[in-house]
Amino acid sequence: MGLWARLDDVSVRYGPKIVMQNLTLDVVEGAITCIIGLSGAGKSTILRLLNGLKKPDSGRVFVKGREITKMRERELIELRGTIGFAFQFSALFDSLTIGENVALPLREHTKMRDEEILKLVTETLDSVGLAHVLDRFPSELSGGMVKRAGFARAVVTNPQAVLYDEPTTGLDPIITHVLTDTIVKLRERLNGTAVVVSHDLESIYMMADYIAMLFEGAIVAYGTVDEIRRSPNPIVQQFLQGSEVGPIPI
Ligand SMILES: Nc1ncnc2c1ncn2[C@@H]1O[C@H](COP(=O)(O)OP(=O)(O)O)[C@@H](O)[C@H]1O
Ligand SMILES: [Mg+2]
Repeated sequence: MGLWARLDDVSVRYGPKIVMQNLTLDVVEGAITCIIGLSGAGKSTILRLLNGLKKPDSGRVFVKGREITKMRERELIELRGTIGFAFQFSALFDSLTIGENVALPLREHTKMRDEEILKLVTETLDSVGLAHVLDRFPSELSGGMVKRAGFARAVVTNPQAVLYDEPTTGLDPIITHVLTDTIVKLRERLNGTAVVVSHDLESIYMMADYIAMLFEGAIVAYGTVDEIRRSPNPIVQQFLQGSEVGPIPI
């Protein structure tokens, strides 16, 4: 399979704090790649590097073979129009209806007419199991529904890839299951790439084609679900088992 993106020898620091050091990660096209790691490990930063919201201090980032670390802001805006981003906190606008929220990227990035937009927004909400909420406000929906509306907004432009930041964190197991299923279905429908940052091992085992574990600034393990679960790396095993005992400092 081809590559969708590549972080090549990337280093990132915030002030004196080194978050990534010479990190390299390939993101396979058409697959679901899950990024795991401790809080503060730099998982969200990886997503921000992939759509050019964050520039590394050194190293290069490629998307579809193009070096985005060399792009100007105008090209980056264009690139971001082709990548969906589902934020950790749904980031819907409370003052807009669900339909208006989902329509926003189409209004920003396309010249579609209102009727076309309405049709596409309705279809996309349908595809995440949210028919009939077009005119409701975010405050009128449950947490899981708001999340799915966020997914709909992330995919409504038919992006080449979707980045999900902790899509299921803090939600109950049933909603988690529904959301995980939705991510898999959306990937199939778009025939695209997904990168999912998650702590939720059950959900990762269900959806991941590949798992990458981030620890102390580098990718310490990468592989299929089976490979990662059987990894002899004690850092991986401690993380998967949620154990206090092991090489990870608590
Ligand atoms: N804008 C920022 N300014 C300063 N420090 C930041 C900023 N964004 C992230 N960090 C720090 O970088 C580290 C990695 O952050 P993040 O990528 O959000 O981690 P994760 O998503 O794995 O929890 C954390 O220690 C965080 O505090
Ligand atoms: Mg994060």
